[in-house]
Amino acid sequence: MLRAPADAALVRPSRRVRGRTRVPGDKSISHRYAMLAALADGTSRITGYSPGADCAATLACLAALGTTIRPAGPGTYEIVGRGLRGLSQPARPLDCANSGTAMRLLSGVLAAHRLQAVLVGDASLTRRPMRRVIDPLTRMGARFESDDGRPPLTVQGADLRGAALATEVPSAQVKSAILLAGLQASGRTSVEERAATRDHTERAIAAFGPRVEIDGRTVGVEGGQRLSARDLAVPGDLSSAAFWIALAAATPCASVEIDGVGLNPTRTAVLDIVRRAGASVAAHAGNESSSEPAGLIRIEYGEPRSFAIAPDEVPAVIDEIPALAALAALMPTGHELTVRGAAELRVKESDRISSLASGLRAMGARIDEFPDGFRLESRPLRGATVDAADDHRLAMAFAIAATGADAPTTIQGASSVAVSYPDFFETLERLTRGDGR
Ligand code: S3P
Repeated sequence: MLRAPADAALVRPSRRVRGRTRVPGDKSISHRYAMLAALADGTSRITGYSPGADCAATLACLAALGTTIRPAGPGTYEIVGRGLRGLSQPARPLDCANSGTAMRLLSGVLAAHRLQAVLVGDASLTRRPMRRVIDPLTRMGARFESDDGRPPLTVQGADLRGAALATEVPSAQVKSAILLAGLQASGRTSVEERAATRDHTERAIAAFGPRVEIDGRTVGVEGGQRLSARDLAVPGDLSSAAFWIALAAATPCASVEIDGVGLNPTRTAVLDIVRRAGASVAAHAGNESSSEPAGLIRIEYGEPRSFAIAPDEVPAVIDEIPALAALAALMPTGHELTVRGAAELRVKESDRISSLASGLRAMGARIDEFPDGFRLESRPLRGATVDAADDHRLAMAFAIAATGADAPTTIQGASSVAVSYPDFFETLERLTRGDGR
């Protein structure tokens, strides 16, 4: 890989993939630990915090809300909690940058505070739908102003009443916003989901002390339970590891080990799917990393097979679909990946269906788009210039696909990897040199 000017990366073909790596701290868990630490009594210490820009935005917002946050070494922060409903009126708009998780979860946190805050974001975040949090939080007693359901979002917090709510779309962000508000409301709050989504918030709340009641797909919390400061370690992000998993699964003779990665069962569907696609995947949950299982993943190339992601699998693998599309694109000619029931991909950091399709098509793959997914058929890949649409997961997916092209590929918008994986290109170079240790 060479850095090209104007926010582009040049990725050269490589047919050798071998080595061992760690991945940055989990983005979802980092946001949650930071927000809960700010609501706790006492000083928490968080290690392994995500180095990405999304989680830095959450820390900056919490600081602007009066939280003292002290860096205490690489990926380590001491966060001095302000107690439940203890955040203070911010002097300026809170910038959530590119992060939907920051904006939606902070909406829940702030809805219960007697303050007014304006949540803003970059061009991508400003296009993303927020009614999914506005509606349930309004039912609990908060008031919101938005640009027809999109940011900027003005939150007028209040003394909230607990409520029994159901989510419209399967979304861990919405569930989490409701639970964070519910913890600070009067009475009990519950959320029912139609499909299970990642359960990091439930685990993180329990790690800080409060009781969380889980009954099938319904999660409940009693408001007013105090949180106690904790020392917590964030495991590596499986969604970042997914790019190395896809690369190893697609490259003959490849073998990659990823250590210290989160293995929460609500996130590991990607491993089952890659096994169906032919690769050999071993996961050993060793160390429980605070509230989350974590361990080692070893992935080896196996005979590639066409595969599909069914609608009921989508919520558990929503962030890994770009990596899985790169895996399919790298397969020998004529292999297929079909994804349906994934309309949510259109409202992520970019429209991930159309941007993925344009980029992989430019490299030679055949792709039919549907409103809720796509069908990809592998073809020999050629070097091309592709646009990641300033979307970190697309930049990384195109880089993985580019390793199997016949000539170098230029990825525009490549600096977006900093959102979740600042060292992505350095690690790609190390693993594809074949001396990845
Ligand atoms: C996240 C949940 C998912 C995911 C996002 C992070 C979270 O979004 O795509 O990257 O941390 O809760 P939705 O819950 O809106 O599907």
